[in-house]
Amino acid sequence: MKHVKKAVFPVAGLGTRFLPATKASPKEMLPLIDKPLVQYVVEEAMASGIEQVLFVTGRGKHTLEDHFDVAFELEALLSGKGKDTELCQVREISNMVRIFYVRQKQALGLGHAILCAKDFVGDEPFAVLLGDDIIDGETPCLSQLMNVYNKYGSTVLGLEHVPMENISSYGCVSGEEISDSVFKVTNLVEKPKKEDAPSDLAIIGRYILTPDIFPILAKQSPGKGGEIQLTDAILELSKTDAVYGCKFEGIRHDCGDKLGFLKATVDIALKREEFGKDFEKYLRERLT
Ligand code: G1P
Repeated sequence: MKHVKKAVFPVAGLGTRFLPATKASPKEMLPLIDKPLVQYVVEEAMASGIEQVLFVTGRGKHTLEDHFDVAFELEALLSGKGKDTELCQVREISNMVRIFYVRQKQALGLGHAILCAKDFVGDEPFAVLLGDDIIDGETPCLSQLMNVYNKYGSTVLGLEHVPMENISSYGCVSGEEISDSVFKVTNLVEKPKKEDAPSDLAIIGRYILTPDIFPILAKQSPGKGGEIQLTDAILELSKTDAVYGCKFEGIRHDCGDKLGFLKATVDIALKREEFGKDFEKYLRERLT
């Protein structure tokens, strides 16, 4: 069985939940403290053993490309001023991982974005990471999904129980829990109404897929919102191939949402060695 070494990041979205900040800047570049969102997710992928990343981009995403590129002038300036720590930080980013780009020329949905990765993926299993979801845990979330993939050799979805009133924001699955936190998925519905949802188990933005998804995506008709939905293609796949779900450990922040982003900022800031304690003191003062 081949190991998962490639990851696909669909980053062509317009970030409408975060306007006006995302009017001229990609949502993936919003900084959580001092790193853009996308860097946290690339770091998670690397910590899980990913060696190659494909960004499926769209218009107006050049700052994301620049972020992972060599910044010659900045490096020369930092080096001239003897700012070695900053120089190291900046250099590390451009050496993180092998990065590739493809343009999603039409905004036809997540399923269509994944189809754009077909040539990059070839005949290997691959991961998909959605940049809105920042997952903070002891073991990287993608690594937890990989453990399930390495056992069963088939599609794995990241899952989380969500309050029923929020289920219509997610792909929803139902299935049988076959071992601790691992589900054999039997049904999937993209963004169901609360009353139609088969469970409270939501798909979170982490997937391990196999190239078997591509012929299905190529034939997939538009679904919810008139878009080609990855969830619909996985439902089709589940009729012939086993699909698993992994209820991962860790705290997930929906950083595509303003309140979720704020919570993530506070959580991560409280853990920072340089100012976590001072920040906590400040928050306590403000709340009393
Ligand atoms: C996408 C998927 C959905 C999934 C969600 C996770 O929706 O279509 O199934 O639950 O990501 O973040 P989006 O949030 O892009 O509308």
